[in-house]
Amino acid sequence: MAAAAATTGRRVTASSSTLTIVVLAAVVASSSFPVIRGASSSSSSSCSSHTFSGKVYASCADLPRLGATLHYNYTAATHTVSVAFRAPGTSKSGWAAWGLNPSSAGGMVGTQAVVAFRHSNGSVVAYPTVLDSYAPSMAPAATGDLAFPVSGVAAEEEGEENGMVVYATVALPAGKGSKFTHVWQQGSAVVDDVPAAHPTTGDNVLSTATIDFSE
Ligand SMILES: *[C@@H]1O[C@H](CO)[C@@H](O)[C@H](O)[C@H]1NC(C)=O
Ligand SMILES: *[C@@H]1O[C@H](CO)[C@@H](O)[C@H](O)[C@H]1NC(C)=O
Repeated sequence: MAAAAATTGRRVTASSSTLTIVVLAAVVASSSFPVIRGASSSSSSSCSSHTFSGKVYASCADLPRLGATLHYNYTAATHTVSVAFRAPGTSKSGWAAWGLNPSSAGGMVGTQAVVAFRHSNGSVVAYPTVLDSYAPSMAPAATGDLAFPVSGVAAEEEGEENGMVVYATVALPAGKGSKFTHVWQQGSAVVDDVPAAHPTTGDNVLSTATIDFSE
């Protein structure tokens, strides 16, 4: 399995309509968010049977859409969470992303995400990006653009045909406890090294929930 470093600067030429992208879940009424509970390794959830080579997470959640799972370590003392987001359905030519939306509105816009895909140069790349509209640039975020710091960003493919795992450590926004709206997504295409629009129906617009990292 080839681990990948986070990218630094990447040029984005954003004139073509093919680069007009709509990423991550559309707004879903917050009242309909399913609450995801963490699962200890003693539970019968399927995420807990997954093992990573070289990494262990104390908690995991089977996410209700896209067959994805989130594995995480929450450290209350530092208010940080280290995550491994698995999107087993991501094709080798596609992309996967996971993020938090600290705004009360929830949904895609306002989410700070980590996105991963195979670059045309052959490397799996992963970086933080800010989803500031329904057609975000998907460009790597400058440090100053991030509402909360993200470190340890990496990704790797898993599986012969499909599968991506995204790793990150998030310094959680203060004053919000340990319960957050998170958003996850996958798309099937990357155009000119920019993740292209995901489907705007079905699971792809329902892939958001609340999660309490302390559970
Ligand atoms: C591919 O491009 C990315 C983004 O610019 C870079 O981080 C990575 O090091 C490159 N990989 C190779 C093998 O050149
Ligand atoms: C998660 O926390 C456990 C201890 O509870 C530790 O053994 C493990 O290395 C941590 N994993 C990561 C990825 O930090």
